[in-house]
Amino acid sequence: MSESQIIDQFGRKHTYLRISLTDRCNLRCFYCMPEEGSEMADKPHVMKLEEIVALSKIFVSMGVDTIRLTGGEPLIRKNFGFLVENLAELGVKLKLTTNGILLDQYYDLFEKVGLKSINVSLDSLDKTRMAFITKRDYYDRIMANVREGLKRGFEIKLNVVLIKGVNDKEIIDFIELTRDSKVQIKFIEFMPFKGNKWDWSKGVSEEEILSVAKTHFGGLDVLENPAHSTSSNYAIPGFKGSFGLVSTITNPFCDDCNRIRLTADGKMKNCLFATKETDLLTPFREGAQIEGLIIQSIKEKKYSRDGMDKMVSSHFEKNRSMVSIGG
Ligand code: GTP
Ligand code: 5AD
Ligand code: SF4
Repeated sequence: MSESQIIDQFGRKHTYLRISLTDRCNLRCFYCMPEEGSEMADKPHVMKLEEIVALSKIFVSMGVDTIRLTGGEPLIRKNFGFLVENLAELGVKLKLTTNGILLDQYYDLFEKVGLKSINVSLDSLDKTRMAFITKRDYYDRIMANVREGLKRGFEIKLNVVLIKGVNDKEIIDFIELTRDSKVQIKFIEFMPFKGNKWDWSKGVSEEEILSVAKTHFGGLDVLENPAHSTSSNYAIPGFKGSFGLVSTITNPFCDDCNRIRLTADGKMKNCLFATKETDLLTPFREGAQIEGLIIQSIKEKKYSRDGMDKMVSSHFEKNRSMVSIGG
């Protein structure tokens, strides 16, 4: 693996690429997919699978060692299996974030290629509430797939975006899952994106979650966070699993950010909140060398949250909707 060349003006080396395979999804979570729908890229503008592999190769040659596949929902992309087999050959750590509906179709392949880390969006342990949040009824399927993944020994994390008055009373129920299972729960602060009607009064902060957990369970073990972690991690003493808090709003963790993103239409995004993107796909299709563009783009990366000190709607409404960024 080569030394990272994707270095920003703060000296941060970018080794983690998140690739959105599609901006479509088979769920309709209200905090992610705008009610009025989101602008979707039409097919000619979406990266072909061969292009994703070729662009990934370039990123790997520049020092990327981890690739996470996201969406929309990545598993609805046609020939997803072909893509995974090809990316696995690049020698990177391959990871996946999914809503879990189609996971059972791919476990054998993931075992074969060594894809171990799977993050599943699961905002409620209540079937009716899940249907309210996602506007679809797949709870039983998702849960069965999560259980199967854990049984097979995959590293499964459950992503829970907490929203007041919706699922904020489930903090303890989620942590209870970690009693007998090696699962990790990730509680995520509700973040603002185009069209998601964000309002922090609906959000639940890291501090509130910790306080609920401490009051209920007494002591908490503070875990050591892996380098570049997006979450601060904890465990209840004696429990097999753990839980983490992704505190983008109240306690951003940008100091050692190592992440870059590639959208389904081939734009490089140097921060989750970046409003400026660099088109790599068009010049790539024209046969240009894109390494220079990547280096130029990263030099423009702001230190934190694309320069947003506070979350301001005139800024984040210029970003994409989350369904087309992929998280
Ligand atoms: P790991 O690789 O297991 O650490 O997972 P992850 O947290 O990077 O990925 P996942 O796709 O599961 O995302 C979980 C939550 O973290 C989502 O709400 C993401 O939007 C958020 N997240 C992921 N990457 C970043 C990032 O670079 N910055 C911020 N602020 N949030 C992020
Ligand atoms: N705020 C926080 N997290 C979000 N996700 C989607 N939209 C938001 C939001 N507005 C999460 C999903 C998914 C992950 C990639 O991003 O729960 O698991
Ligand atoms: Fe990195 Fe931007 Fe996320 Fe901060 S908000 S960790 S700079 S991607």
